[in-house]
Amino acid sequence: MGYYIGVDLGTSSVKLLLVDEAGRILNSASREYPLLFPHPGWSEQEPACWWEAVTEGIRDLTKDVDCAQVRGIGCGGQMHGLVALDAQDAVIRPAILWNDGRTAEETAWLNTVVGKEKLSALTANIAFAGFTAPKILWMRNKEPENFKRIAKIMLPKDYINYKLTGVHSCDYSDASGMLLLDVEHKSWSKEMLGICGVDEKQMPRLFESFEVIGTLKPEIAEELGLPADVKVVAGAGDNAAAAVGTGTVGDGACNISLGTSGTIFISSSKFGVDPHNALHAFAHADGRWHLMGCMLSAASCNKWLCDEILRTTDYAAEQRDITDERLGRNRVFFLPYLMGERSPINDTDARGTFVGVSMDTSRADLVQAVLEGVAFAIRDSFEVARSLGVPVDRSKLCGGGAKSPLWRKIMANVLNIPLDIPQTEEGPGYGGAMLAMVGCGAFESVQACADALVHVTKTVEPDPAIAERYEAQYRKFGLIYPALKEVFPKLQ
Ligand code: XUL
Repeated sequence: MGYYIGVDLGTSSVKLLLVDEAGRILNSASREYPLLFPHPGWSEQEPACWWEAVTEGIRDLTKDVDCAQVRGIGCGGQMHGLVALDAQDAVIRPAILWNDGRTAEETAWLNTVVGKEKLSALTANIAFAGFTAPKILWMRNKEPENFKRIAKIMLPKDYINYKLTGVHSCDYSDASGMLLLDVEHKSWSKEMLGICGVDEKQMPRLFESFEVIGTLKPEIAEELGLPADVKVVAGAGDNAAAAVGTGTVGDGACNISLGTSGTIFISSSKFGVDPHNALHAFAHADGRWHLMGCMLSAASCNKWLCDEILRTTDYAAEQRDITDERLGRNRVFFLPYLMGERSPINDTDARGTFVGVSMDTSRADLVQAVLEGVAFAIRDSFEVARSLGVPVDRSKLCGGGAKSPLWRKIMANVLNIPLDIPQTEEGPGYGGAMLAMVGCGAFESVQACADALVHVTKTVEPDPAIAERYEAQYRKFGLIYPALKEVFPKLQ
């Protein structure tokens, strides 16, 4: 039976899974890499660190197995990051990541001077600070010498695929988040490229996520100890890959991911645009489309509180005292905008905020407020989907945050829908392996692969009493950002 490697090129680490054609996870590995914040609100990473982590991770993943059985590799990667290569394919500067807020000026220029209507007509989306096009404009404006050297523009996982195969590729789901793709017609928008001062020659070749872009370069196969005919598929943005990994394919299925970012992802068999562009309209890795809301800091809010402030690695211990009795009764609220926010408020100046702290506030109240603040902010995007008439009556849940039974319960009650937990919370890695299986012919479509391999192992149902309390809490949460909106820019 063939083995497949799924790579989740995340923001804090790469996570790898070795999966067989029956969907069994045979092995897993992970490697962390540094995240650089050269200025407040900026966020960068060195592509060389990703590559080192991926190669070490693959060797670790496959060290005790029969490597001759490995057939394919599929990667789901953090989206929107600008990786610029020169004519020798060397990286020009550190990658500027999806949660980087430096492009406020360029984003405003795109949305006002080019205009939201035109952007939406060309690409199905408007500009958000984390998208790739504003970063290209930033480089043109602020680093003209670097800009002139650009021979290829890539996204993070495309850089890994390039290092593996020597092929410059990008898939439609990830390309959607560049603001350079005509999402409906799945081709680069010449007009958008022109607006950003980029030529089509500088763009990678486009593929469906499950299409094979090439095989391993012989020297890489040897270095990794893998057969040279291992196929690499184009892969997907991490959210589309996670959707595949949780079986969120076809029409009207929903997945919520609690990773560094928090996303709500709704699959669709038809192309459609949110008329207010609060939700992104992107291509899906199953060959169709999806709508997505993305908050910039989700599980990372809890990680920040525990690691940096409470100085603990035992996240579960911090949540132990938060019993059902306390849910929906917290007097402390938290705005989770540690890196500014994208969906739905699109505000690079917004910041994380505790409100309602008093002398009797406990450590557990703060932890609870953070988990709840993330859930309320996800609900904000969920409400946008509802306002568009997109019915979401249940959802899958994945990502690191989905490991916490308490956070699952808070999410189910704040959204007041059942949440289905699939066999692995490692959505992007599992989805990457599934895309590789489809590319290698083990399944005829992503849908068929998902039908065969993805199982729900547990459902978290909302509790009517808790959900009612959270309804009232959500209304209070909704008062805080509007009251502070004008204050945040003055704090910069
Ligand atoms: C999606 C987004 C994030 C990153 C996280 O638009 O920016 O979810 O993909 O890795």
